[in-house]
Amino acid sequence: MIDPLELDNKELKSLTPQRFSYNVDDYGWQALIQNAFKIENLNCLHELRSDLHPLGTLEIDTESKTLYHQTFYAKMNAGWDELSNTYHSFIATEISPFFKNDFLYQYMPTFRVHLPNDQAIHGWHCDTEPGYDHPFGEINIQLAITEMQDTSATWVESSPGRGDFRPMNMEYGEFTIFNGNTAVHGNKVNLTAKTRVSLDFRILPLHKYKGPGKTTATAGKTFAKGDYYTLYEQNKNLDHD
Ligand SMILES: [Fe+2]
Repeated sequence: MIDPLELDNKELKSLTPQRFSYNVDDYGWQALIQNAFKIENLNCLHELRSDLHPLGTLEIDTESKTLYHQTFYAKMNAGWDELSNTYHSFIATEISPFFKNDFLYQYMPTFRVHLPNDQAIHGWHCDTEPGYDHPFGEINIQLAITEMQDTSATWVESSPGRGDFRPMNMEYGEFTIFNGNTAVHGNKVNLTAKTRVSLDFRILPLHKYKGPGKTTATAGKTFAKGDYYTLYEQNKNLDHD
């Protein structure tokens, strides 16, 4: 049962983080990503694939470019049909019911690795601020691929300016819809002994799209339909009317 958030027209400042569950057997994210790294436990990614481990502590310029990230994106860019199809199916089945109208969604999910004793993302920010440059109106969705608890979770304030940061704790099989667009978020040094892996992406209701705008901080793409965004048309999907 979908909670009718009415995300098309919701004021982002009133979008507090909301967590949902789904049936992981319908998607198998974990197995797909484990296979990509040729391991059987993503929590131990930092040990089982220590050959990919960064030499020192990460920082803003290196946090999204480790060999872990390069492995994931190289596979994605070479045409990782299983993961792409899983992603598009997830959007159609789990995400589109939150919207009444057509929307744009990130062309591929962002891959996050939160290594023990380090941070996944080192700057506390909202996505529309200079340097991140996302367009206003995006809605953020994060999927836990491993558990995310306390220092291995993403922290976000409940609404812009409140400063009441709380972790978006999740298990595999859960996702959280939140306002990363104008609410500050970030993460802490992961004090668990486990690597956290997650995926996240943004949705932009089509009526909020104002053209390509700036270029993404990491992917070098413009925030354009057909570049950073893929169009989801509600009336072309027979499962939803
Ligand atoms: Fe962000």
